[in-house]
Amino acid sequence: MTAEELNSRLDTTVANPARRYDYWLGGKDNFAADRESGDAIEAVYPAIRTAAVENRMFLRRAVRYLATEAGIRQFLDIGTGLPTAENTHQVAQEINPTSRIVYVDNDPLVLAHARALLTSQPAGRTAYIEADLREPAEIFNAEELVDILDLREPVALLLVAVMHFVPDDEQAYTVVKTLTNALPADSCLVVSHATYDFLPADIADVFTAKSLPGAGDFTGRSREQFLRFFDGLDLIAPGAEMVSQWRPESSSASPPKPVSVYGAVARKP
Ligand SMILES: C[S@@+](CC[C@H](N)C(=O)[O-])C[C@H]1O[C@@H](n2cnc3c(N)ncnc32)[C@H](O)[C@@H]1O
Repeated sequence: MTAEELNSRLDTTVANPARRYDYWLGGKDNFAADRESGDAIEAVYPAIRTAAVENRMFLRRAVRYLATEAGIRQFLDIGTGLPTAENTHQVAQEINPTSRIVYVDNDPLVLAHARALLTSQPAGRTAYIEADLREPAEIFNAEELVDILDLREPVALLLVAVMHFVPDDEQAYTVVKTLTNALPADSCLVVSHATYDFLPADIADVFTAKSLPGAGDFTGRSREQFLRFFDGLDLIAPGAEMVSQWRPESSSASPPKPVSVYGAVARKP
């Protein structure tokens, strides 16, 4: 895609999930509307930047677990986000340089940056697909995926901080089921997801009402709703936890911080 084509597809006047998350993580790929929306959410939920950082650390710990203990060599990372430090392929290929990673996002800016910055080690492969996760067939039929992933071998499907952008429950569960059904036994599913479970009722009400300007694009789910994503799969210990509590590193100097995001990893039997 040329820079002109990309610019014609970018609407910088409306807050966008990838750019707002980049803002919370301290990145530079964001615009005024993203920052306004990010600040509005932070005013109601001051731990949001901590939550973004902890979510990112969960992603890295989960990929490390998958690449080491679960022996996974193939990763399908849907809802990639703008490149930041220690992206999926870097963590996986540091452990096994032959790891293959397919990144999928529906945001053209994410794809443009990912293609430029997320380059594979020579022994492995990476590919980038612009697609909407609500259309799983488009993802599995994409040439790049067919070329890179061997669907007879286990794949780790990463849906990290993305399913809360699918508000319709039935659609969200159906999509995850369709995606995991396409993967062989011993594949793994990683999900992290915003929740209101740990918030005081008045703050939860603000988010449930979706009345914050530029911040009504995500839907928190309860623990029970979160666990439904893993129906038919075997949860890996410790099961569903706050992302900061999922296998925290014992070497970390500070204790895990409480954040309103669930995370879990499961294996397909
Ligand atoms: C909050 S970021 C998470 C990035 C990364 N997974 C992480 O946790 O660090 C959410 C990403 O999901 C993408 N996204 C949102 N809805 C999507 C959809 N329906 N299909 C594909 N990607 C989507 C956004 O463009 C954004 O890049």
